[in-house]
Amino acid sequence: MKAASATDYRELARRRLPRFLFDYIDGGSYAEVTVRRNIADLEQVALRQRVLRDVSTIDLGTTLFGHSTAMPVALAPIGLAGMSARRGEVQAARAAETAGIPFTLSTVSACPIEEVIAGVKAPIWFQLYMIRDRAFMRDLLERAKAARCSALIFTVDMPVPGSRYRDYRSGLAGAPGILGNMRRLWQAACHPRWAWDVGLLGRPHNLGNVAPVLGGKSGIEDFFGWMRANFDPTVSWADLAFVRSIWDGPLILKGIFDPEDAREAAAIGADGIVVSNHGGRQLDGVPSTAHMLPPIAAAVGDKLTVLADGGVRSGLDVVRMLALGARGVLLGRAWAYALAGGGQAGVAHMLQLVEAEMRVAMALTGITRIEQIGPDILVR
Ligand SMILES: Cc1cc2nc3c(=O)[nH]c(=O)nc-3n(C[C@H](O)[C@H](O)[C@H](O)COP(=O)(O)O)c2cc1C
Repeated sequence: MKAASATDYRELARRRLPRFLFDYIDGGSYAEVTVRRNIADLEQVALRQRVLRDVSTIDLGTTLFGHSTAMPVALAPIGLAGMSARRGEVQAARAAETAGIPFTLSTVSACPIEEVIAGVKAPIWFQLYMIRDRAFMRDLLERAKAARCSALIFTVDMPVPGSRYRDYRSGLAGAPGILGNMRRLWQAACHPRWAWDVGLLGRPHNLGNVAPVLGGKSGIEDFFGWMRANFDPTVSWADLAFVRSIWDGPLILKGIFDPEDAREAAAIGADGIVVSNHGGRQLDGVPSTAHMLPPIAAAVGDKLTVLADGGVRSGLDVVRMLALGARGVLLGRAWAYALAGGGQAGVAHMLQLVEAEMRVAMALTGITRIEQIGPDILVR
């Protein structure tokens, strides 16, 4: 099957990955209401069809946090994405570099930050969670600085992890010990291409950035165990001063989902926010990003850079998010599927598709530059 869209890459990922990994990427929390809403509400956003406006030259270029990007798109942080293809985060970062857009490395990536930056020339963005061990957090921030990361995404919507039924059903979570290992091994054996490429050749398997404090442990239960024990639920606005005291580059708060919190983010001097419900993986039942973005952008859009994610599966969706008030859009599952389905070439191809879809969407709404995208192109 040749993928014609990011959604086609989902199907390729479903075929290629062991079930526990596909469900980990694809799934959300509880009944997955918000996962579905993110996609359905974005699909409902209708654009005006405009004609006879000379759309022969379309420019997708823009600037995010002082850096030029080929289009207003970045790859979102995806924990353990590196397990979808051999040394996967390196492959995805290379694809993002080729496309001229930022790649964000998750705290809980499979490849450590040093390995990823050695594979690319362009700076990457780094994502951090609030971790109980402040000395380790400081160490991670220093590593991100030493790696010349050009922005820090500080994720604030996971003081506690949302429960994901699919991870229990697939055997990823809640299946400790030998039985869980056997289930996952069996699923891997049923996907020999993945088992060979990632399972065997992709070693070492650990939480790249976190490996130094895991003391040699590298099992999947160790990953979840570490997250449960070390993500800090006491996180509050006051902690941002700690982050700021170490990180002086652009600071982006990810997981802002209420106009009041957005105003607070602007007041404490954040450079940007990501309007996000974590792809429906945290509080199930919250509205979609498409629903919450306009009031949040209206509250703070001129005070900081508003990014958004959730349900974006095409260049048309990117244009919709921009029209709803975002200055830039993060792709989440879209790149995780493409990485699983086709490695670096898959992510590069998916980004080409997104770019081409953006061009068509802009041409048919009668606009040629990113700054022209706004509520004016929406059917009210
Ligand atoms: C498998 C998976 C892992 C994720 N890991 C992280 C992470 O480590 N840090 C983070 O801030 N967000 C993480 N997210 C959330 C994404 O950054 C993003 O907000 C979300 O995927 C956007 O929704 P979409 O997948 O529908 O595009 C993860 C999402 C998925 C699907």
